[in-house]
Amino acid sequence: AKGERQLIGEANEIAVKFFRAMYGHERHGAVGREYVGKREISDEMMEVFGVGVSVDAWDGLAQVIAKRGWDVRGFELAGLVGRRQDGSLYDRMRHRLIFPIFDAIGRPIAFGGRKLREEDEPKYLNSPETKLFNKSRTLYGLHAAKKPIIDSRTAVIVEGYTDVIACHQAGAKNVVATLGTALTREHAGELRRYAEKVVLIFDADEAGQKAADRAAEVFLTGEIDVAIAVLPNGHDPDSLMKEEGGREKWDGFVTGAEDALSFLFSRLKEQMAGNDTVTGRERIAEGFIDRMVQMGLGKTGAIRRALVIRQMAGLLGMSEEAVGQLISA
Ligand code: CTP
Ligand code: MN
Ligand code: MN
Ligand code: MN
Ligand code: MN
Repeated sequence: AKGERQLIGEANEIAVKFFRAMYGHERHGAVGREYVGKREISDEMMEVFGVGVSVDAWDGLAQVIAKRGWDVRGFELAGLVGRRQDGSLYDRMRHRLIFPIFDAIGRPIAFGGRKLREEDEPKYLNSPETKLFNKSRTLYGLHAAKKPIIDSRTAVIVEGYTDVIACHQAGAKNVVATLGTALTREHAGELRRYAEKVVLIFDADEAGQKAADRAAEVFLTGEIDVAIAVLPNGHDPDSLMKEEGGREKWDGFVTGAEDALSFLFSRLKEQMAGNDTVTGRERIAEGFIDRMVQMGLGKTGAIRRALVIRQMAGLLGMSEEAVGQLISA
């Protein structure tokens, strides 16, 4: 008998073809093609990333499964179709631009679907986690970015599907995305197989700022260099690339990204400067040290540890011994 992984994998393969066929369909694909034109995604990128469209109906895929007599279990396990009380099937992805999520060797393991109508919610509907799809380990675009990452020894991580595609389209191909989650140690571990350095480029919105702060923490125990940049003026990589001279600006952000450790210290400095009471500054410093300890500073290598302690001591006006004691406590 087929295992769950195989059933899901086969269903996903079929679904990629189905969504691609719908994209090419004269009537069903029209809204999607118009949207793709508006977003300026090239035909080549549509191919490389296998982008398709789901139809504006409850039974686009469900009907085809029934008609062809395919094994429905895989589609259900994959979260592509749901089952009503009366046993009938319905599509979970309706009227969306479909971004298949491939594993490192190009097998589809999940899908992200972007709404095509402003009023629909949510903006992105993603596959549930399955035996094939672990969200906190997966990097979108890795199948296309793997070789460029190995060649440049650098992986650039952005936030979204369209960001990855826009970068690749502009020729910046060492780019992948996390899937609406913070960078995890598993992500870092996966990338360590290909890269020596990771550069995180975040959107200029509040979510991006927060994500940058959290992601900076991963550097401490992950044995990989991490640098961080937050884009200016409401930009994300996709919108930046579509600007005049965007590609040149992009290269500037990647090379100018700040080391994660100094990024964290810059934020700490800002917070300290913004608080003029001794108690307030004390609390900020303690909070920072607590966080560093939680991140695993106590377990990190001696050199990195010494570096952090020296910077912290300078910033807090304490001796290195005192900071060291706080961290070991
Ligand atoms: N995301 C998600 N679910 C949402 C919103 C976002 O999974 N409801 C994830 C998607 O992977 C998305 C990424 O977070 O690509 C970044 O979100 P956002 O910046 O809001 O979207 P963009 O990728 O910029 O998409 P677009 O340009 O189409 O608005
Ligand atoms: Mn955003
Ligand atoms: Mn570093
Ligand atoms: Mn965007
Ligand atoms: Mn964005």
